[in-house]
Amino acid sequence: MPNTATRKILVTSALPYANGAIHLGHLLEYIQTDIWVRFQKSRGQQCHYVCADDAHGTAIMLRAEQEGITPETLIERVSRDHQADFSRFGVAFDNYHSTHSEENRYFSELIYTRLRDAGHIATRDIEQMYDPQKGLFLADRFIKGTCPKCRADDQYGDNCEACGATYTPAELIDPVSAISGATPEVRSSTHYFFKLPDFADFMQRWINDGHVQPQIRNKLMEWFEAGFNEWDISRDAPYFGFEIPDAPGKYFYVWLDAPIGYLASFKNLCEREGLDFDSYWRPGSDAEVYHFIGKDIVYFHALFWPAMLHGANLRTPTAVNCHGFVTVDGAKMSKSRGTFIKAATYADYLNPEYLRYYFAAKLTSKVDDLDLNLEDFAARVNADLVGKVVNIASRCAGFVQKLGGGTLSEHCAEPAMVARFIAAGDDIANDFEAREFSRAMRRVMELADEANTYIADGEPWVLAKQEGREQEVLDICSVGINLFRQLMVYLAPVVPAMAEQARVFLNLETLNWASRHAVLSHHAINKFKPLMTRIERDKIDAMIEASKEDLAEEKKLKETPKGPLADNPIAAEVSFDDFSKVDLRIARIAKAQYVKGADKLLQLTLDLGGETRNVFSGIRSAYAPEALEGRLTVMVANLAPRKMRFGVSEGMVLASANDDGIYLLSPDDGAEPGQRVT
Ligand code: 2FM
Ligand code: ZN
Repeated sequence: MPNTATRKILVTSALPYANGAIHLGHLLEYIQTDIWVRFQKSRGQQCHYVCADDAHGTAIMLRAEQEGITPETLIERVSRDHQADFSRFGVAFDNYHSTHSEENRYFSELIYTRLRDAGHIATRDIEQMYDPQKGLFLADRFIKGTCPKCRADDQYGDNCEACGATYTPAELIDPVSAISGATPEVRSSTHYFFKLPDFADFMQRWINDGHVQPQIRNKLMEWFEAGFNEWDISRDAPYFGFEIPDAPGKYFYVWLDAPIGYLASFKNLCEREGLDFDSYWRPGSDAEVYHFIGKDIVYFHALFWPAMLHGANLRTPTAVNCHGFVTVDGAKMSKSRGTFIKAATYADYLNPEYLRYYFAAKLTSKVDDLDLNLEDFAARVNADLVGKVVNIASRCAGFVQKLGGGTLSEHCAEPAMVARFIAAGDDIANDFEAREFSRAMRRVMELADEANTYIADGEPWVLAKQEGREQEVLDICSVGINLFRQLMVYLAPVVPAMAEQARVFLNLETLNWASRHAVLSHHAINKFKPLMTRIERDKIDAMIEASKEDLAEEKKLKETPKGPLADNPIAAEVSFDDFSKVDLRIARIAKAQYVKGADKLLQLTLDLGGETRNVFSGIRSAYAPEALEGRLTVMVANLAPRKMRFGVSEGMVLASANDDGIYLLSPDDGAEPGQRVT
């Protein structure tokens, strides 16, 4: 790309779901994008980087319900957390918005009505599993049951983790709703479809036109050959999202309005900063639009999204840049091994710029996975950033202070070498532009090696001890500082906080790409402070341990029983009327027995003073059956019966739990089975 005229560039990273913390897997993408954006800005391009939380959908609705808060409160809290994490990692969006915003409603409706009016929307009835207890349709991942092929229990509605079989939820044996435990029913409802096949020729041209990487193109062509179905873009109420304009009770599927969130966030920025939105998004616009995404969501971004935009008469992206997944020590991130590392946990122990550099040192323009090898991570950062780059400045700064009073030599003793370092900026820029960050970092470290060799050969520390050679020492160290400055220009997009400290030390206005052409002579610099310290292995180990503790915390939260009696500080308030609907009774455990094939359950026969109930309870880890027989406890007697794999559960006994165990509630002596608990 020529860099003479200023380019207008809009860049996005995928919108993170508003129901979970940012982790290292996410960070690869945000760091990759942020480096590219910082590089463009350093080159003087008019570049805008926008993102938002992906705030709609069933998962967010259920999560809010589980926490006893509204979805709006949940997404507000998560957005704050996400933005705090991004900021700690130096990910500098020009705007961070939400898909649950007026701008997004506007553009979702606009795109939908344009598609509809052009005949690209169809409706038809489909049959789906329905949870009669929760009153909602269930996506496949919210249905569990026994695998029809290998009979493994507790498998999701679309595939079996034990044998790998794929099937429809209707084929599951004893299916249950993963949300309520109720047996799902098949129900029919009208759905809205985006007629993707209308865009087959367009999509084929688009993916062959250099907008995606070659590996992605090949993958997409495979899908292409398999043919396209119409895409179901509606979900029935209750759903947290936007209602479809002409379809009461039908909502846009989260994946319909998620990419439209890119437009919404940019529109929000345009309004704030007086930018011309349309000049970026009209067909034929001379602006460039880039989406950075993970390889798992390429289908949406490289097929559905361009088709939607094209069908709605908006421009399509210049490119969709795809990256692979992060592995840690060669394996998928694992919660139990402590390698599923949250951004906040990492930043509590280690400098985020270590990670930014390590990712940069390994990132290419390809889609391969990136391994964070923790030994290599420490070794690479220590050797490169601390041992090579910072070392140049720390070796030279003291002599410049002592012999030049803090001012560099009036003339450059090695003009050819400094000129070579400046010229190297062109190749390095090409690498950044092409997202070949690994190659850029290699070139920078080769230059750092050269600079260190130059200083080592000059031995200023030896000359400094010899009388009359002060100028020579100052000359060598002034060259060293100039070389260091070039390196910091090239590293600034990768390690912006370190570069900012270097800028202050070098006493410069800017470290942008063009500034490197002015060689520093007779220039006063500031006192040197260490710019980066070495990674200590014990910090890495502590971070891994803390990640294991994060898991324990999460587990505890998940297992905390929710409801009126739960020890849950954020449980929703219930009215007295609602509470009085719960029929709590004293029950005598007449019989308790193990349940074959269920390692958490006990089967209890409860005597309610004349009536008996069969209840399955997850208390096996705490009680031997014989210890329970004859004991009094408290049960919910009017809970709707739940069909489980082992039989029907007709109520629930009340218990509390903490790290050490489970505690069944018992009334004081004198209580009688069947008595109402008030
Ligand atoms: O996969 C995900 O995490 C989605 N929330 C990404 C959405 S990207 C865009 F389409 F909004
Ligand atoms: Zn199976």
